[in-house]
This record gives sequence, structure tokens and C-alpha cells, in this order.
Amino acid sequence: MSRLATSLCGIPLRNPVLAASGTFAYGVELESVVDIEAIGGLVVKGLSREPMEGNPAPRLWEAEAGMINSIGLQNIGVRAFVSGKLPALRRFATPVFANIFGYAVEDYVEVARVLEDAEGLAGYELNVSCPNTKHGGIFFSSDPVSLAELVSAVRRVARRPLIVKLSPNVAQIEPLARAAEEAGADAVSLVNTFISLAIDARARRPRIGAGFGGLSGPAIKPIALRLVYQAAQAVRIPVVGLGGIASGEDAAEFLIAGAQAIQVGTASFWDPASTARIARELDQFLAREGVAGVREIVGTLRW
Ligand SMILES: Cc1cc2nc3c(=O)[nH]c(=O)nc-3n(C[C@H](O)[C@H](O)[C@H](O)COP(=O)(O)O)c2cc1C
Repeated sequence: MSRLATSLCGIPLRNPVLAASGTFAYGVELESVVDIEAIGGLVVKGLSREPMEGNPAPRLWEAEAGMINSIGLQNIGVRAFVSGKLPALRRFATPVFANIFGYAVEDYVEVARVLEDAEGLAGYELNVSCPNTKHGGIFFSSDPVSLAELVSAVRRVARRPLIVKLSPNVAQIEPLARAAEEAGADAVSLVNTFISLAIDARARRPRIGAGFGGLSGPAIKPIALRLVYQAAQAVRIPVVGLGGIASGEDAAEFLIAGAQAIQVGTASFWDPASTARIARELDQFLAREGVAGVREIVGTLRW
């Protein structure tokens, strides 16, 4: 599959298809259903300083052409990840990215510090969709100043490549993508989920235990494509695109919009091997289109 060979922030990738955070556990759990060495890379579930139990059930709702979730960032905590999961992940020749989150800048910095001492990671992805508890709950992801403060602080401790994952719940993506770039991000990834509400009309209650949830899956793809295109126009660093990708041709659309790599999230819920399948389909798509190397189609949208 040399047609698919590429790189991201200097990290060689056998193909540009990565598994998205929160939909691929810590990687090792998926080993029996997907060939980990057939995918370009994987992003593990978001890691916090301490373990978190997450939100009350129900946490998932199947919406029209998509899925709403409010897992509440349940995870085993960064130290248990380093001691219990990372050693098994090191067996694979596939780049592993640690997804990091917190509610204050110090939380993110502490998680990054613990990961810096661990072997076997290719880089980090910062999930900035959390409310900043030190600034009255304003979301890092919607305020360029808070975002820049967070990215600079993590940048100071992180020697590995740093991807900042942007939220789509903003009026304008460009100022946020630029703020991440100027604060030292090596790449931006987008999109995270769209804040949404599903209602059970008979019970007159939200269908998700926590009330609101994040919408993902095919329903969001056209909006994600627009945001990826706009972000790619706004920054010089690489863009990683995601949101509703379920086929090789979907992946090609994000690359054409300007993404250098893509991630697959919700599709892994109905086809756990979808990441590897999408890489194969992308290869076939490029062959049919007469494209010799995947980089050639990045940012080639014609108006
Ligand atoms: C169940 C679930 C859990 C998720 N957990 C995380 C997470 O921990 N960190 C993160 O940055 N994104 C998380 N996401 C967002 C996905 O990585 C992805 O950005 C989003 O679902 C859009 O892509 P998709 O339509 O392919 O799923 C989660 C998504 C789902 C569906």
C-alpha cells in the first residue's frame, strides 16, 4: 500500500487513516477484530490526571444518521494507561497518540508530563472541548485566548508532536485554528462532536442521562468537511480531518478539502474493523482515479 504512505508532523504513517479517540478504547482491546498494523495510527481514549467514572446512563443514543454520546470522559487515568496499556501497545509498529483532557491548564500539563516520561507514544492530541474551571467554565475550544494559554502551557512540557483537536461548536473556526498554531501546535484535528439534544416525547425527558450529548457519525460529515476546509485555508500546519467518515471515498473527500490525514470514529461502532477497511478502500479509490501517492490529492478542491 505504498500509494498510501504519508507522514504527519514528521511521523511516518503507512496510511493516513487513524482511529479516533473514544471510539477505539486504548487500542489493545480491538486487537482481535482489527489488524492494528493495517491502520495508519490510533488515538487512545482521552486521559485525565485521575481515573474518571463518567456520566450517568444512558450515555448513547442512535440518532438519525448519527449517534449522540455523553460518556463524560470516563477513563482509567493517565498513570494506569502508562503502566497497564502502553506496554501492550508498544508491540505494534503503529503510531499511538495519547488524547489528553482536563478542566484546568494544570491538569493538561500534568497529564502531558506523565506521558513525556513514558516510552512508545508518537504524539499527543489535546481535547480542548472542556470548560475551563479557572475561567468560570468558558470552553477552551471557543475562546482563542484561553486556547492559546492552554496550548502554550502544554507545549512547554511536550517534546513530542502536539495536535490540538478543535470543537465544531463555534461561529468561526479560523481564529481558533490560528490561535492553536501561534501557540505552538504542530497540527490541528477537527471535528469533535456537535452539542445536541435528543428528546423522548412520551417521557418528555432527554434521552441521554446527562441531558445534552455530542452528535457524531454520517449526519455531521458535510459540516465537518466545511470546517476542515476553512481550517486548512487558515493555517500552515497540517490538518487532520474527521467527522462521519465511513468509506474510503469519504476519507478522500476530507483529504481533498485539505486534511493530510483523517480519523474514523463512530463507524467503528457498527463495523469495528472499519479503519482498516477504509484504508483499503482509499487505496482502491486512488488507484481508480490514477493518483500515484495520497499526498497528491491533499487540498485539491476545485471550485
Ligand atoms: C463514544 C465516543 C467517545 C468519544 N470520546 C472522545 C474523547 O475521549 N476525546 C476526544 O477528543 N474525542 C472523543 N470523541 C469524539 C471522536 O473522536 C470524534 O471527534 C467524533 O466522534 C467525530 O467523528 P466521527 O463522526 O467519525 O465519530 C468521542 C466520540 C464518541 C462517539
